[in-house]
Amino acid sequence: MKEAFRHIHGASPDGIWAAPGRVNLIGEHTDYNDGFALPIAIPQNTLVAARRREDRRLRLHSAQGDGPVIDLDVDDLAPGAVTTWGAYPAGVVWALREAGHAVAGADLHVDSTVPTGAGLSSSAALECAVAFAYNDLYGLGLSAPALALISQRAENGFAGVPCGVMDQMASACCTPGAALHLDIRAGTHEQVPFAPESEGLRLLVVDTRVKHDLGDGAYAALRAGCEQAARLLGVAALRDISPAELPATNRTLPAHLVPLVQHIVTENARVAEAVSHLRAGRVAALGPILSAGHASLRDDFRISCDESDLVVDTALAQGALGARMTGGGFGGSVIVLVDEGRAQALGDAVTAAFRSAGYPAPHLFPVSPASGARRIE
Ligand code: GLA
Repeated sequence: MKEAFRHIHGASPDGIWAAPGRVNLIGEHTDYNDGFALPIAIPQNTLVAARRREDRRLRLHSAQGDGPVIDLDVDDLAPGAVTTWGAYPAGVVWALREAGHAVAGADLHVDSTVPTGAGLSSSAALECAVAFAYNDLYGLGLSAPALALISQRAENGFAGVPCGVMDQMASACCTPGAALHLDIRAGTHEQVPFAPESEGLRLLVVDTRVKHDLGDGAYAALRAGCEQAARLLGVAALRDISPAELPATNRTLPAHLVPLVQHIVTENARVAEAVSHLRAGRVAALGPILSAGHASLRDDFRISCDESDLVVDTALAQGALGARMTGGGFGGSVIVLVDEGRAQALGDAVTAAFRSAGYPAPHLFPVSPASGARRIE
Protein backbone atom coordinates (compact mmCIF):
# COMPACT_ATOMS: atom_id res chain seq x y z
CA MET A 1 0.00 0.00 0.00
CA LYS A 2 2.71 2.47 1.06
CA GLU A 3 4.95 1.51 -1.83
CA ALA A 4 2.10 1.90 -4.33
CA PHE A 5 1.22 5.27 -2.78
CA ARG A 6 4.82 6.51 -3.06
CA HIS A 7 4.99 5.32 -6.65
CA ILE A 8 1.77 7.14 -7.61
CA HIS A 9 1.92 10.27 -5.48
CA GLY A 10 5.69 10.69 -5.09
CA ALA A 11 5.75 10.84 -1.26
CA SER A 12 4.82 8.71 1.74
CA PRO A 13 1.22 8.64 3.00
CA ASP A 14 0.38 10.19 6.37
CA GLY A 15 -1.53 7.02 7.25
CA ILE A 16 -3.66 4.11 6.09
CA TRP A 17 -7.34 3.68 6.94
CA ALA A 18 -9.58 0.62 6.50
CA ALA A 19 -13.35 0.24 6.27
CA PRO A 20 -15.19 -3.05 5.77
CA GLY A 21 -18.04 -4.23 3.58
CA ARG A 22 -21.10 -5.67 5.32
CA VAL A 23 -23.78 -8.29 5.18
CA ASN A 24 -27.12 -7.57 6.73
CA LEU A 25 -28.48 -10.39 8.89
CA ILE A 26 -32.05 -9.09 8.79
CA GLY A 27 -33.86 -5.76 8.29
CA GLU A 28 -33.83 -5.13 4.54
CA HIS A 29 -35.14 -1.89 3.01
CA THR A 30 -36.23 -0.87 6.50
CA ASP A 31 -33.58 1.83 6.91
CA TYR A 32 -35.27 4.43 4.69
CA ASN A 33 -38.54 3.58 6.41
CA ASP A 34 -37.13 4.80 9.76
CA GLY A 35 -36.97 1.18 10.94
CA PHE A 36 -34.47 -1.37 12.21
CA ALA A 37 -31.62 -3.40 10.77
CA LEU A 38 -28.99 -5.86 11.98
CA PRO A 39 -25.83 -5.86 9.83
CA ILE A 40 -22.35 -7.21 10.55
CA ALA A 41 -19.06 -6.03 9.09
CA ILE A 42 -17.27 -8.64 6.96
CA PRO A 43 -13.49 -9.16 7.01
CA GLN A 44 -13.09 -7.73 3.48
CA ASN A 45 -11.91 -4.12 3.64
CA THR A 46 -11.30 -1.09 1.51
CA LEU A 47 -7.97 0.51 2.36
CA VAL A 48 -7.14 4.14 1.76
CA ALA A 49 -3.60 5.45 2.02
CA ALA A 50 -3.82 9.22 2.31
CA ARG A 51 -1.66 12.30 2.59
CA ARG A 52 -2.92 15.75 3.41
CA ARG A 53 -2.16 18.47 0.86
CA GLU A 54 -1.89 22.13 1.65
CA ASP A 55 -3.45 23.15 -1.68
CA ARG A 56 -7.01 22.41 -2.93
CA ARG A 57 -6.19 19.41 -5.17
CA LEU A 58 -7.87 16.09 -4.53
CA ARG A 59 -5.88 13.39 -6.32
CA LEU A 60 -7.46 9.93 -6.43
CA HIS A 61 -6.04 6.62 -7.55
CA SER A 62 -7.42 3.10 -7.26
CA ALA A 63 -5.57 -0.20 -7.57
CA GLN A 64 -8.80 -1.65 -9.00
CA GLY A 65 -9.66 1.23 -11.34
CA ASP A 66 -6.25 0.83 -12.95
CA GLY A 67 -6.75 4.18 -14.67
CA PRO A 68 -4.78 7.41 -14.32
CA VAL A 69 -4.94 9.62 -11.24
CA ILE A 70 -8.23 11.55 -11.06
CA ASP A 71 -7.20 15.13 -10.34
CA LEU A 72 -9.93 17.39 -8.93
CA ASP A 73 -10.18 20.80 -7.32
CA VAL A 74 -11.96 20.65 -3.95
CA ASP A 75 -13.72 23.93 -4.73
CA ASP A 76 -15.14 22.60 -8.00
CA LEU A 77 -16.74 19.50 -6.46
CA ALA A 78 -20.44 19.45 -7.31
CA PRO A 79 -22.99 16.66 -7.78
CA GLY A 80 -22.61 15.10 -11.20
CA ALA A 81 -19.05 16.40 -11.63
CA VAL A 82 -17.50 12.93 -11.20
CA THR A 83 -19.19 9.87 -12.65
CA THR A 84 -16.59 7.11 -12.11
CA TRP A 85 -15.62 5.33 -8.85
CA GLY A 86 -14.09 8.69 -7.90
CA ALA A 87 -17.61 10.00 -7.15
CA TYR A 88 -17.52 8.19 -3.78
CA PRO A 89 -14.30 9.68 -2.35
CA ALA A 90 -14.95 13.04 -4.02
CA GLY A 91 -18.49 12.93 -2.63
CA VAL A 92 -17.16 12.52 0.90
CA VAL A 93 -14.95 15.60 0.57
CA TRP A 94 -17.91 17.49 -0.94
CA ALA A 95 -20.19 16.35 1.93
CA LEU A 96 -17.63 17.44 4.54
CA ARG A 97 -17.33 20.83 2.85
CA GLU A 98 -21.15 21.13 2.61
CA ALA A 99 -21.38 20.36 6.34
CA GLY A 100 -19.12 23.35 6.99
CA HIS A 101 -15.85 21.55 7.72
CA ALA A 102 -12.69 23.33 6.66
CA VAL A 103 -11.13 20.65 4.47
CA ALA A 104 -8.70 21.04 1.61
CA GLY A 105 -6.85 18.64 -0.68
CA ALA A 106 -5.37 15.19 -0.29
CA ASP A 107 -3.62 12.48 -2.23
CA LEU A 108 -5.43 9.14 -1.94
CA HIS A 109 -4.64 5.63 -3.08
CA VAL A 110 -7.40 3.05 -2.69
CA ASP A 111 -7.18 -0.74 -2.67
CA SER A 112 -10.02 -3.08 -1.81
CA THR A 113 -10.90 -6.70 -1.19
CA VAL A 114 -14.64 -5.95 -0.99
CA PRO A 115 -16.19 -7.38 -4.18
CA THR A 116 -18.01 -4.69 -6.16
CA GLY A 117 -21.60 -5.10 -7.34
CA ALA A 118 -22.02 -8.08 -4.98
CA GLY A 119 -24.39 -6.39 -2.53
CA LEU A 120 -21.61 -6.21 0.06
CA SER A 121 -21.46 -2.40 0.31
CA SER A 122 -18.23 -1.73 -1.50
CA SER A 123 -19.29 1.88 -2.01
CA ALA A 124 -20.00 2.43 1.70
CA ALA A 125 -16.63 0.89 2.54
CA LEU A 126 -14.91 3.32 0.18
CA GLU A 127 -16.83 6.31 1.51
CA CYS A 128 -16.19 5.40 5.13
CA ALA A 129 -12.47 4.76 4.61
CA VAL A 130 -12.14 8.20 3.02
CA ALA A 131 -14.31 9.87 5.68
CA PHE A 132 -12.22 8.34 8.49
CA ALA A 133 -9.01 9.38 6.71
CA TYR A 134 -10.18 12.98 6.28
CA ASN A 135 -11.40 13.06 9.88
CA ASP A 136 -7.86 12.32 11.07
CA LEU A 137 -5.95 14.27 8.41
CA TYR A 138 -7.94 17.42 9.19
CA GLY A 139 -8.48 16.82 12.92
CA LEU A 140 -12.26 17.10 12.53
CA GLY A 141 -13.06 15.09 15.67
CA LEU A 142 -16.22 13.58 14.18
CA SER A 143 -17.70 10.41 15.71
CA ALA A 144 -18.12 7.17 13.75
CA PRO A 145 -21.92 7.67 13.34
CA ALA A 146 -21.32 11.27 12.19
CA LEU A 147 -18.84 10.00 9.58
CA ALA A 148 -21.43 7.42 8.47
CA LEU A 149 -23.93 10.22 7.89
CA ILE A 150 -21.34 12.21 5.92
CA SER A 151 -20.71 9.09 3.83
CA GLN A 152 -24.43 8.60 3.19
CA ARG A 153 -24.71 12.26 2.20
CA ALA A 154 -21.90 11.66 -0.31
CA GLU A 155 -23.80 8.76 -1.84
CA ASN A 156 -27.21 10.49 -1.86
CA GLY A 157 -26.18 14.00 -2.82
CA PHE A 158 -23.06 13.49 -4.91
CA ALA A 159 -23.17 9.97 -6.38
CA GLY A 160 -26.96 10.23 -6.78
CA VAL A 161 -27.95 6.94 -5.09
CA PRO A 162 -30.94 7.42 -2.73
CA CYS A 163 -29.76 4.79 -0.20
CA GLY A 164 -30.51 4.70 3.51
CA VAL A 165 -27.75 4.78 6.12
CA MET A 166 -27.48 1.10 7.05
CA ASP A 167 -24.41 0.31 4.95
CA GLN A 168 -22.44 3.32 6.10
CA MET A 169 -23.39 2.73 9.75
CA ALA A 170 -22.30 -0.90 9.43
CA SER A 171 -18.99 0.02 7.86
CA ALA A 172 -18.34 2.78 10.41
CA CYS A 173 -19.65 1.27 13.65
CA CYS A 174 -19.50 -2.53 13.61
CA THR A 175 -17.30 -4.45 16.03
CA PRO A 176 -15.89 -8.00 15.93
CA GLY A 177 -18.10 -10.64 17.51
CA ALA A 178 -21.26 -8.55 17.27
CA ALA A 179 -24.09 -7.56 14.99
CA LEU A 180 -25.09 -3.91 14.94
CA HIS A 181 -28.69 -3.30 15.98
CA LEU A 182 -29.70 -0.08 14.26
CA ASP A 183 -32.72 1.99 15.18
CA ILE A 184 -32.68 4.46 12.32
CA ARG A 185 -35.29 6.89 13.63
CA ALA A 186 -33.74 7.09 17.07
CA GLY A 187 -30.29 7.35 15.49
CA THR A 188 -29.00 4.74 17.92
CA HIS A 189 -26.95 1.60 17.51
CA GLU A 190 -26.19 -1.24 19.84
CA GLN A 191 -23.73 -4.13 19.61
CA VAL A 192 -25.49 -7.46 19.96
CA PRO A 193 -23.21 -10.51 20.49
CA PHE A 194 -23.14 -12.73 17.40
CA ALA A 195 -20.57 -15.53 17.31
CA PRO A 196 -21.88 -18.38 15.13
CA GLU A 197 -18.60 -20.32 15.46
CA SER A 198 -19.02 -20.65 19.20
CA GLU A 199 -22.28 -22.53 18.52
CA GLY A 200 -20.69 -24.78 15.89
CA LEU A 201 -22.32 -22.76 13.10
CA ARG A 202 -21.04 -21.00 10.01
CA LEU A 203 -22.34 -17.94 8.22
CA LEU A 204 -21.63 -18.36 4.52
CA VAL A 205 -21.80 -15.64 1.92
CA VAL A 206 -22.71 -16.73 -1.59
CA ASP A 207 -22.03 -14.05 -4.17
CA THR A 208 -24.36 -15.03 -7.03
CA ARG A 209 -22.28 -12.94 -9.45
CA VAL A 210 -25.49 -11.29 -10.60
CA LYS A 211 -24.45 -7.65 -10.61
CA HIS A 212 -26.87 -5.35 -8.92
CA ASP A 213 -26.88 -1.63 -9.47
CA LEU A 214 -28.66 0.57 -6.97
CA GLY A 215 -28.46 3.51 -9.32
CA ASP A 216 -30.73 1.88 -11.90
CA GLY A 217 -33.98 3.33 -10.62
CA ALA A 218 -35.54 0.18 -9.09
CA TYR A 219 -34.31 1.06 -5.61
CA ALA A 220 -35.59 4.63 -5.92
CA ALA A 221 -38.97 3.32 -7.10
CA LEU A 222 -39.29 1.03 -4.09
CA ARG A 223 -38.36 3.83 -1.77
CA ALA A 224 -40.91 6.13 -3.40
CA GLY A 225 -43.58 3.40 -3.08
CA CYS A 226 -42.91 3.02 0.65
CA GLU A 227 -43.00 6.78 1.17
CA GLN A 228 -46.25 7.07 -0.76
CA ALA A 229 -47.80 4.29 1.35
CA ALA A 230 -46.75 6.08 4.55
CA ARG A 231 -48.36 9.31 3.30
CA LEU A 232 -51.58 7.53 2.41
CA LEU A 233 -51.65 5.89 5.83
CA GLY A 234 -51.05 9.21 7.53
CA VAL A 235 -47.83 8.17 9.28
CA ALA A 236 -44.35 9.68 9.16
CA ALA A 237 -42.83 6.40 7.98
CA LEU A 238 -43.80 2.73 7.66
CA ARG A 239 -41.96 2.17 10.93
CA ASP A 240 -45.11 3.50 12.57
CA ILE A 241 -47.30 0.61 11.40
CA SER A 242 -47.48 -2.42 13.69
CA PRO A 243 -48.13 -6.00 12.50
CA ALA A 244 -51.56 -5.87 14.20
CA GLU A 245 -52.51 -2.88 12.03
CA LEU A 246 -51.62 -4.60 8.76
CA PRO A 247 -55.06 -6.01 7.86
CA ALA A 248 -56.67 -2.59 8.29
CA THR A 249 -53.96 -0.72 6.35
CA ASN A 250 -54.19 -3.25 3.55
CA ARG A 251 -57.82 -2.30 3.04
CA THR A 252 -56.91 1.39 2.69
CA LEU A 253 -54.05 1.14 0.22
CA PRO A 254 -53.95 0.69 -3.56
CA ALA A 255 -53.17 -2.97 -4.33
CA HIS A 256 -49.62 -2.38 -5.60
CA LEU A 257 -48.51 -0.83 -2.30
CA VAL A 258 -49.93 -3.55 -0.04
CA PRO A 259 -47.05 -6.04 -0.43
CA LEU A 260 -44.45 -3.30 0.11
CA VAL A 261 -46.03 -2.40 3.45
CA GLN A 262 -46.42 -6.07 4.31
CA HIS A 263 -42.68 -6.60 3.86
CA ILE A 264 -41.52 -3.55 5.80
CA VAL A 265 -43.82 -4.14 8.77
CA THR A 266 -43.03 -7.85 9.09
CA GLU A 267 -39.32 -7.21 8.49
CA ASN A 268 -39.10 -4.75 11.37
CA ALA A 269 -40.73 -7.40 13.57
CA ARG A 270 -38.17 -9.96 12.36
CA VAL A 271 -35.31 -7.69 13.44
CA ALA A 272 -36.79 -7.43 16.94
CA GLU A 273 -37.22 -11.20 17.10
CA ALA A 274 -33.67 -11.83 15.86
CA VAL A 275 -32.21 -9.42 18.42
CA SER A 276 -34.04 -11.08 21.29
CA HIS A 277 -32.73 -14.50 20.22
CA LEU A 278 -29.16 -13.23 19.93
CA ARG A 279 -29.35 -11.54 23.33
CA ALA A 280 -30.38 -14.91 24.76
CA GLY A 281 -27.47 -16.63 22.96
CA ARG A 282 -29.76 -18.55 20.57
CA VAL A 283 -27.88 -18.08 17.29
CA ALA A 284 -29.51 -21.11 15.63
CA ALA A 285 -32.95 -19.56 16.20
CA LEU A 286 -31.99 -16.96 13.60
CA GLY A 287 -32.38 -19.57 10.85
CA PRO A 288 -36.16 -19.50 10.32
CA ILE A 289 -36.14 -15.70 10.62
CA LEU A 290 -33.64 -15.44 7.77
CA SER A 291 -35.71 -17.75 5.58
CA ALA A 292 -38.93 -15.88 6.35
CA GLY A 293 -37.12 -12.63 5.46
CA HIS A 294 -36.15 -14.12 2.11
CA ALA A 295 -39.70 -15.23 1.34
CA SER A 296 -40.90 -11.72 2.12
CA LEU A 297 -38.31 -10.10 -0.17
CA ARG A 298 -39.07 -12.62 -2.92
CA ASP A 299 -42.87 -12.65 -2.76
CA ASP A 300 -43.83 -9.26 -1.34
CA PHE A 301 -41.01 -6.82 -2.04
CA ARG A 302 -40.12 -8.73 -5.22
CA ILE A 303 -36.44 -7.96 -5.35
CA SER A 304 -34.93 -11.44 -5.42
CA CYS A 305 -33.84 -13.16 -8.62
CA ASP A 306 -33.66 -16.76 -9.87
CA GLU A 307 -30.01 -17.17 -8.88
CA SER A 308 -30.59 -15.96 -5.29
CA ASP A 309 -33.69 -18.15 -4.97
CA LEU A 310 -31.68 -21.13 -6.22
CA VAL A 311 -29.03 -20.57 -3.52
CA VAL A 312 -31.69 -20.31 -0.81
CA ASP A 313 -33.64 -23.37 -2.00
CA THR A 314 -30.51 -25.49 -2.42
CA ALA A 315 -29.14 -24.40 0.97
CA LEU A 316 -32.38 -25.26 2.75
CA ALA A 317 -32.59 -28.61 0.96
CA GLN A 318 -29.04 -29.27 2.26
CA GLY A 319 -30.15 -28.70 5.83
CA ALA A 320 -29.18 -25.04 6.29
CA LEU A 321 -30.82 -23.45 9.34
CA GLY A 322 -31.80 -20.46 7.24
CA ALA A 323 -30.83 -18.47 4.16
CA ARG A 324 -31.73 -15.17 2.56
CA MET A 325 -30.61 -12.64 0.00
CA THR A 326 -28.88 -9.72 1.67
CA GLY A 327 -28.59 -6.06 0.66
CA GLY A 328 -30.46 -4.03 -1.92
CA GLY A 329 -31.59 -6.98 -4.05
CA PHE A 330 -31.76 -7.82 -7.79
CA GLY A 331 -28.77 -10.13 -7.47
CA GLY A 332 -25.78 -9.68 -5.22
CA SER A 333 -25.22 -12.03 -2.30
CA VAL A 334 -27.09 -14.58 -0.21
CA ILE A 335 -26.25 -15.44 3.40
CA VAL A 336 -26.63 -18.97 4.72
CA LEU A 337 -26.56 -20.07 8.35
CA VAL A 338 -25.47 -23.69 8.54
CA ASP A 339 -23.99 -26.26 10.92
CA GLU A 340 -20.23 -26.31 10.51
CA GLY A 341 -20.28 -30.00 9.53
CA ARG A 342 -22.65 -29.39 6.63
CA ALA A 343 -21.01 -26.28 5.22
CA GLN A 344 -18.72 -27.99 2.71
CA ALA A 345 -21.40 -30.27 1.24
CA LEU A 346 -23.81 -27.35 1.07
CA GLY A 347 -21.28 -25.21 -0.79
CA ASP A 348 -20.66 -28.03 -3.24
CA ALA A 349 -24.40 -28.49 -3.79
CA VAL A 350 -24.91 -24.78 -4.49
CA THR A 351 -22.03 -24.78 -6.98
CA ALA A 352 -23.44 -27.91 -8.66
CA ALA A 353 -26.93 -26.39 -8.84
CA PHE A 354 -25.50 -23.30 -10.55
CA ARG A 355 -23.64 -25.49 -13.02
CA SER A 356 -26.80 -27.45 -13.88
CA ALA A 357 -28.77 -24.24 -14.32
CA GLY A 358 -26.09 -22.89 -16.66
CA TYR A 359 -25.17 -19.97 -14.34
CA PRO A 360 -21.59 -18.76 -13.85
CA ALA A 361 -20.00 -20.31 -10.73
CA PRO A 362 -20.94 -18.48 -7.55
CA HIS A 363 -18.30 -17.23 -5.12
CA LEU A 364 -18.64 -18.71 -1.62
CA PHE A 365 -16.85 -17.70 1.56
CA PRO A 366 -17.49 -17.89 5.31
CA VAL A 367 -17.63 -14.66 7.33
CA SER A 368 -17.45 -13.73 11.00
CA PRO A 369 -18.40 -10.32 12.33
CA ALA A 370 -15.37 -8.08 11.80
CA SER A 371 -14.18 -4.64 12.80
CA GLY A 372 -15.66 -1.37 11.54
CA ALA A 373 -13.66 1.49 10.02
CA ARG A 374 -10.38 2.44 11.68
CA ARG A 375 -6.88 3.76 11.13
CA ILE A 376 -4.52 0.85 10.65
CA GLU A 377 -1.23 2.72 10.28
C1 GLA B 1 -28.79 -0.93 0.03
C2 GLA B 1 -28.84 0.47 0.61
C3 GLA B 1 -29.19 0.42 2.09
C4 GLA B 1 -30.42 -0.43 2.36
C5 GLA B 1 -30.30 -1.77 1.63
C6 GLA B 1 -31.54 -2.59 1.74
O1 GLA B 1 -27.73 -1.65 0.56
O2 GLA B 1 -27.62 1.12 0.45
O3 GLA B 1 -29.37 1.73 2.60
O4 GLA B 1 -31.59 0.25 2.00
O5 GLA B 1 -30.00 -1.61 0.27
O6 GLA B 1 -31.77 -2.96 3.05
